[in-house]
Amino acid sequence: MSRLLALKSQTESCVKCPLSNSRTKVVFGNGNENAQIFLVGEGPGYDEDQTGIAFIGKSGQLLDKILEACNFTREEHVFIGNIVKCRPPQNRTPSQEEMAACLPYLEEQIQLVDPKIIITLGATALKGLTGENLKITRERGNWRFWNDRLLMPTYHPSALLRTPSLKKEAWEDFKMVIRKYRELVDPNHYCKYI
Ligand code: URA
Ligand code: SF4
Repeated sequence: MSRLLALKSQTESCVKCPLSNSRTKVVFGNGNENAQIFLVGEGPGYDEDQTGIAFIGKSGQLLDKILEACNFTREEHVFIGNIVKCRPPQNRTPSQEEMAACLPYLEEQIQLVDPKIIITLGATALKGLTGENLKITRERGNWRFWNDRLLMPTYHPSALLRTPSLKKEAWEDFKMVIRKYRELVDPNHYCKYI
């Protein structure tokens, strides 16, 4: 068993925070175990809680479209996880305590996957991962470092669904990721748009 799969089975019996009481399934994260791009969302919603698969509902479908436009696939190029692995009731924002309880799993996951590029989706993912009270509207589109890894903050797909005018900026952010991916991973990565 890979270390990542061992960590997965560890999280599946986790009761470190109260979200364990209301979850149906723990959503560990999915994608390529050796992906060079690690996407971080906020937490499971209804569909993810039911299936145990990250970003499979409405937001996930939009995320898949964005990845497709980049010519990135879940199977090959990315791994997708969340700040908390269990669904917050009514999809509320996870509390500081819940995020703090769950963060060590995500940190270990990132170390094991060992990506060149991290993308945080939305304010909660950015704040949860960095521990800093950052504004997404200000930080998106700007590379920063997190534990010596490159991090691109962008909007959460649910924000793009609520406010379609933000899609233009989000696409700019993903274009920067494509350029960085070419620079650091595969100079021949094809994308029909850039
Ligand atoms: N929203 C998230 O932040 N994560 C998911 O896995 C699904 C929806
Ligand atoms: Fe454990 Fe994270 Fe689930 Fe809380 S959200 S019970 S810390 S796996």
